Amino acid sequence: MIGAPPNRRVTVNPMDARALKIEAARVALGHVRDGARLGIGTGSTAEEFVRLLAEKVAAGMKIIGVPTSERTAALCRELGVPLSTLDETPELDLTIDGADEIDRHLSLIKGGGGALLREKIVAAASRQMIVIADESKMVETLGKFPLPIEVNRFGLKATELAIAAVARELNLSGPLTLRMTNGTPFVTDGGHFILDASFGRIPDPRALSNGLFAVPGVVEHGLFLGLAQAAIIASANGVRTVHA
Ligand code: 5RP
Repeated sequence: MIGAPPNRRVTVNPMDARALKIEAARVALGHVRDGARLGIGTGSTAEEFVRLLAEKVAAGMKIIGVPTSERTAALCRELGVPLSTLDETPELDLTIDGADEIDRHLSLIKGGGGALLREKIVAAASRQMIVIADESKMVETLGKFPLPIEVNRFGLKATELAIAAVARELNLSGPLTLRMTNGTPFVTDGGHFILDASFGRIPDPRALSNGLFAVPGVVEHGLFLGLAQAAIIASANGVRTVHA
């Protein structure tokens, strides 16, 4: 068995967690070739990767990065990582990104940082996606982490009801919570809202994915299926690579 027992996350001390993220990012950097067109993920783990990448760039490595969020773009600019847009560079060699949950098939839940839409577009435009994470992200079955669902602001209540109906069809249930920040709804880089779906275990992520895409107000969801080829997982025992 890879990773944690069913739907239980390994708890990692926050101090250790940062060191583990840096280790996973360091190993991922070894997969970046000079001249690479690189998708750059969002979140605290991806940011450790950006910091290491910036050191390589300062030392002369030539890459062009396509960021998956305004937040990542700002950090890249601050640290001197050269950027392009997906319109200028629509085909990428590799995307490195974090995840909220990872199962043994490398199905993922992403979007804890609210960047799922751009993250998925960038990953899909890449020949390869490598996930970087600490051991706490590995699960037997996806779903303990609430599934982020990016929705159009129009008709929020109707969309919520339609999502709940899709879930019921699949014997899933649980609250859909509108993500808030500082007392107002969180707005994504694409100008949408996020509903965090606490459905619990998701035994058939593909069926849920298909069902959610049938809801008109759903812009994107955080199930990343068949996109990642490898995950670099750091734990106190070392770093290992899991292949899809
Ligand atoms: C952002 C994401 C992140 O990759 C995910 O939330 C993991 O973040 P972190 O590395 O901070 O745990 O999907 O939308």
